[in-house]
Amino acid sequence: MTRKHSLPRFPDDYTGEKAIEYNNLTWMERNQRTTTLRCVEYLFDPKLGEYEKLEFSDYLILDLGCGTSFSTNELLNLGFNVVGIDVLKDMLIIASQKRNKSNYKTREELILASIINLPIKPQKIDFIISISAYNFITYKKTDLKSMRKVLDETARQIFLILKQKGRAVIEFYPYNQKELKLYLTSFINNNFTGFVIKDNPQQKGGQTFLLLKKEVE
Ligand SMILES: C[S@@+](CC[C@H](N)C(=O)[O-])C[C@H]1O[C@@H](n2cnc3c(N)ncnc32)[C@H](O)[C@@H]1O
Repeated sequence: MTRKHSLPRFPDDYTGEKAIEYNNLTWMERNQRTTTLRCVEYLFDPKLGEYEKLEFSDYLILDLGCGTSFSTNELLNLGFNVVGIDVLKDMLIIASQKRNKSNYKTREELILASIINLPIKPQKIDFIISISAYNFITYKKTDLKSMRKVLDETARQIFLILKQKGRAVIEFYPYNQKELKLYLTSFINNNFTGFVIKDNPQQKGGQTFLLLKKEVE
């Protein structure tokens, strides 16, 4: 994964030497950190409705697909308590090595787990962000039915672990409008409200943000 605009392959681009290479990419760190700031801004987007904003240190935020922790560390920098989850050991090992060097006052936990099987108790999480990782939950799902199933089950879990007024911002790269609709629908069918932000709406795929709010059970 040396070219800036090539789409990464999972898991090959995130294992062994590739995990180290990923962590050394300065443009990647910059992108991940900038996108994290955008996601945090979107969590409080007025179009999602009023939200009484507390100190960030009062919140627990989940970073789905945290990789080597560029996004997690940005969240810690901002003052959040953070749980980072990633399915690949090679990425998490680097994240935990970086943790030892950092000196954050807030709580950080790194968990080796998949987004599709979250080891988190119900109603524990205030916010969720996911940056350039959520696409991969449909890895190896070739037909529409199995894609729908995994998206639906994951959205249901996300609903359960969020607190009553919980919000999520998912940044990802859908292949086209049809795929975007599939992802958004999985959340709407599981009692979320929300909408899509795309910098270039004419673009078939491209960087896309889902802004989601849990509706009261
Ligand atoms: C672009 S990278 C990491 C982005 C991360 N936000 C950062 O700051 O480095 C995408 C990550 O998603 C992870 N991933 C892919 N599928 C996953 C899954 N099902 N559950 C958890 N993590 C997953 C990969 O292992 C990889 O570390």
